[in-house]
Amino acid sequence: MPKYLYIETVGCQMNMLDSELVVADLRRQGYELVDSHKKADTILFNTCSVRQHAEDKVYSALGRLKHVKRDHPDKIIGVMGCMAQKDQKLIFQRAPFVDLIVGPGQLHQIPALIEKVSRGAGRQMEVSLGRKDAPLAQIKRSHESFDPLRTVEMRPTPYQAYVRIMIGCDKFCTYCIVPSVRGPEQSRPPEHVEMECRKLADEGCKEIVLLGQTVNSYRYRDDHGTTRLSDLLLRLHDVAGIERIKFVTNYPKDMTDDLLQAVRDLPKVSPYLHVPAQSGSNRMLERMKRGYTVEEYREMMARINETLVDATISSDFIVGFSGETEEDFQQTIELVEECRFKNSFIFKYSERPSTKGAELYPDDVPEEVKKRRNNELLDVQNAISDEDHIALIGRTFEVLVEGPSKTSLKQNQDGPLLQLTGRTHCDRIVVFDGNRRLIGEMLSIAIHDASGQTLFGSVVTEHVGPEVFELQT
Ligand code: SAH
Ligand code: SF4
Ligand code: F3S
Repeated sequence: MPKYLYIETVGCQMNMLDSELVVADLRRQGYELVDSHKKADTILFNTCSVRQHAEDKVYSALGRLKHVKRDHPDKIIGVMGCMAQKDQKLIFQRAPFVDLIVGPGQLHQIPALIEKVSRGAGRQMEVSLGRKDAPLAQIKRSHESFDPLRTVEMRPTPYQAYVRIMIGCDKFCTYCIVPSVRGPEQSRPPEHVEMECRKLADEGCKEIVLLGQTVNSYRYRDDHGTTRLSDLLLRLHDVAGIERIKFVTNYPKDMTDDLLQAVRDLPKVSPYLHVPAQSGSNRMLERMKRGYTVEEYREMMARINETLVDATISSDFIVGFSGETEEDFQQTIELVEECRFKNSFIFKYSERPSTKGAELYPDDVPEEVKKRRNNELLDVQNAISDEDHIALIGRTFEVLVEGPSKTSLKQNQDGPLLQLTGRTHCDRIVVFDGNRRLIGEMLSIAIHDASGQTLFGSVVTEHVGPEVFELQT
């Protein structure tokens, strides 16, 4: 008898990858994935704590399950990921019907823990040590990297895969919860990463996205010396079958020349850099403890643009951080206008308990002001994205076809011809009509229309005219 699993995931790419790996692990135990909690024997929430809103979403989803558990006491309900690590037992208090709490460092234990609960051992909790609770080596061990070998049928798409190259974060930006829930920064051995990429390539994967909270801080030291991200990219570039390599997210201070040169010199590496600035005001950057000034960020942008022609850069911003004045905010607008990011993710500051920010600085920008600044900055960014996309009309891009577009999915288009979506090397989204069998192909797409988020185009069919014929004879 198969068992059925339902999983809901919020948060960053790390969480997407973790959910994928947990699902793969449970499939090996005979689970089948279903699309509703109603059909499931086990219901898992993979959670995020980066903003209060992400936590509220999970607690209200849990609230809605209260009666489900009452009517079906055998269903197992689990909370995994960053909020499990942050809130721990509090989750049992707020939702007493939860059976399982598992931190991001203990995901490999999930199958065994579910088994324990179903045998009647009662509710289970496994989390990592806090960052001040033990000597560093012990804390590191308690945050294990969860990267079991995967097989192709377990990934959402066979042509693309996330590959984790490091876990944790040591930057401790004052607003941020990540270092305390994901633990100390630890880089995976390059040979493990390479082995995983080779296996993925053997199974038909064409694009890998290397993941790390500060991916360009990657450093692995052993008897042969230090491997930096640039060295790792060089090594992975040799993996036959892999056609594109991307990496996210970058920390501005670690955007070194060797890395930019590697992006320039290795054709498989996408000329796309996500390097969050967070603010354009030095006063804010200092309060945030980001470790750079806005002048240093500008200097980094200049180096990127000098080394990489045609690279796209994207950023994250927090508006309404403690003490942010109109003048600080104007400086952020100026930075966005000057840098012309491909896109920016903009967030209203959300105070996180136990961070330095919460301890030292009051959350003193009113919600309406945060909202207004958020919208204003978004308008500035959208205008830039629109302009830059319109300027690309008429150009042709190599696009890796990812699958049906959102519109096709919504309309349940199930014939061979449908609207497809893919991305350019520099990470722009392209939508076009084509045959389903093109999914996973690298195609030339001519762009004939654009919005700020999306380019619209059509497949360039090879022109077999008389001149080609003449060449062949
Ligand atoms: N490791 C990545 C991203 C971390 S979280 C990095 O350092 O860039 C993703 C984004 O969420 C951050 O870049 C930041 O813009 C935002 N963020 C983090 N903590 C936040 C908070 N307390 N309130 C609002 N936004 C936050
Ligand atoms: Fe959070 Fe800063 Fe680490 Fe990014 S670098 S995860 S924002 S502490
Ligand atoms: Fe959220 Fe954890 Fe990622 S807090 S942003 S899911 S590392």
